[in-house]
Amino acid sequence: MSTADDDTEKSSGPSRLFALIGLFMALLLIGAGGYIWFSGGTPAGLVVGGPFALVGGDGKAVTDKDFRGKYMLVYFGYTYCPDVCPTTLNTVADALDKLGAKADRVRPVFISIDPKRDTPAVVRQFASAFGPKLVGLTGSAEQIAAAAKAYRVYYTEHRTGTGPDDYTMDHSSVLYLMGPDGRFVAPIRADLAPDQMAVSLAKLIS
Ligand code: NI
Repeated sequence: MSTADDDTEKSSGPSRLFALIGLFMALLLIGAGGYIWFSGGTPAGLVVGGPFALVGGDGKAVTDKDFRGKYMLVYFGYTYCPDVCPTTLNTVADALDKLGAKADRVRPVFISIDPKRDTPAVVRQFASAFGPKLVGLTGSAEQIAAAAKAYRVYYTEHRTGTGPDDYTMDHSSVLYLMGPDGRFVAPIRADLAPDQMAVSLAKLIS
């Protein structure tokens, strides 16, 4: 199972250590999701997600409250990601196609963890490649850090050279299903096949 971005393959030293910590946290989250699923309740103290204030593809402010009444399927990544982010977002689009009427209850949301390169225009262009439903969000470094912290998302810059754009982003790769009230429902593995993801979502969406 791969829950960390493949960008981490190129990492070494402290970066790899942090990637492993991110992977460990992702596994913990998935374990917690299983617990929630089987117990029908949220374990005390497990709080994932929360308020966020970001910027949409049109440059306007977007907050978590704008999605109330819909499920959010949240994924953190970056538009320059060579593999895992686009693959995951394609899977989400395919899974929602297979979900039937329940798909209308879900808004897939992509949140950039690369504020330096992912301007609103870049994120809008990127998101549009994965169908009309995907909402792309970015923001200032501080806004993104706050959102990622709320979702327990790990990310860090990984230098590949000396130029300003010579870097990739190591980041954890987990989807978060949030309820119509904005509360955490469950983590969804990002490496599922579209059919499997649709089945997982169908069970969790009322
Ligand atoms: Ni990625």
